[in-house]
Amino acid sequence: METASEGQQIATGEVAQSFRKRDAFATGLGVLTATLGSAVGLGNIWKFPAMTGQNGGAAFIIIYLVCTLLVGLPVMMSEHMLGRHARKDAINTMRDLAPRRQPWWLIGAAGGLAAFLIMAFYSEVAGWVFAYVFKAASGSILSTDPAANSATFGALVSSPWQALVWQWIVLIWVGAIIMMGVSKGIERVTKKLLPLLFVLLIAVCVRSLTLDGAGEGIKFLFNPDFSKVTGPVVLAAMGLAFFKLSVGMGTMITYGSYFRDDQNIPATATKVMLADLTVSILAGLAIFPAVFALGFDVAAGPSLLFEIIPAVFASMPGGNFFVIIFFLLTAIAATGAMISIVEVPVAFLTEQFRLPRRNATLLTLVLLALMGALAALSFSELSDVSLFGKSFFDLYDYASSNILLPLGGLFICIFVGWVWGFDNVKRALSNNGALDNERIIRLFFTIAKYITPLLVLLVLLDGLNIL
Ligand code: PHE
Repeated sequence: METASEGQQIATGEVAQSFRKRDAFATGLGVLTATLGSAVGLGNIWKFPAMTGQNGGAAFIIIYLVCTLLVGLPVMMSEHMLGRHARKDAINTMRDLAPRRQPWWLIGAAGGLAAFLIMAFYSEVAGWVFAYVFKAASGSILSTDPAANSATFGALVSSPWQALVWQWIVLIWVGAIIMMGVSKGIERVTKKLLPLLFVLLIAVCVRSLTLDGAGEGIKFLFNPDFSKVTGPVVLAAMGLAFFKLSVGMGTMITYGSYFRDDQNIPATATKVMLADLTVSILAGLAIFPAVFALGFDVAAGPSLLFEIIPAVFASMPGGNFFVIIFFLLTAIAATGAMISIVEVPVAFLTEQFRLPRRNATLLTLVLLALMGALAALSFSELSDVSLFGKSFFDLYDYASSNILLPLGGLFICIFVGWVWGFDNVKRALSNNGALDNERIIRLFFTIAKYITPLLVLLVLLDGLNIL
């Protein structure tokens, strides 16, 4: 763990080097869990069900799957590869690898902006989760009555002070972990607790699926109705694929820079994608059968998780206890994701300006608290304020997932396919010839060079009504 005085020494190149060595992931499994820890978060448990509910269910999921395979996965592999090759933060990775005077570092800069936008609303949702851990412990959230659950949630989000204070608690919590260094603390914790989240999710699925009337929910999840699919819906599904895999903004470049030289990048990225997908589907199976069985509103959006999960547990023996554990694990999953978001600007500030890690973190937190307040108050004091027809909360979400991440992904793939080129890619992804995976590399390269950019461009133009 890093102490304050060690943090201050990062000023010299040599110490920066040893800092990097210390903070690099030590084992292959550590790489996998840290990367998975970034991917798995509120995106799976909160965003995926809410968006699936609002956008018509199975058809949305199918488009999401296609985007995950043809967009999310290639971008993730690209980011890991570039980060590991340059061993720098996102902006400096792109600056180092780009030909002289070509401004590819802008990808990293846009990613930094995306990190702030995402964290500004993510920390608020995480604040609700933290609040629910405590509310669950006091036994005040368990009810199968939709009206009661929506009142409980409404009271939380519409109270300005509760919204702000819970967000600050989250920011301080994440900041403290970042300051201590990531690998020893959270990596170890998430490694142990993520499997527990899996088990608990499965338990909730079983309960949800065995409720009377659960069939409607299964139909909703697996019976596609493409009539609800419009350009903006496709863009939302693609944005979710980016958000889910933490790609398009430099998180995976930054994490890639901590990867081991012998890490098998295609295999790692594929495993992370599959595990992440499994958690999302499990969350869907936990939530939708219960939505229909208990008479909730599928299109409830942000409140869905907070109303449904307590209702499912309320109908379960031992629900009082399990609901605490459930929200606790969700808080932990959210923490792993938030650390990876905040690590993007912190890595940049420490490397670029030689700021001690502690100061870089503090600066980032203050900015986040200011931007985040606008999101936190979107459901109370600022509920009448809108920009481009959206609340700050929605605007942050929309601008990051639907614009910045796709643009980031688009240019990362263009860079890899058209600037960096096949020979570099082949060397990087085969670990300088140590891995015998040329066919996979060729497949990846073709997709990243032609298919991903084309798809992202089309979906962006159509979703933003430019076409
Ligand atoms: N993937 C994370 C989640 O699903 C969110 C995230 C987005 C993390 C972008 C890092 C970067 O919760």
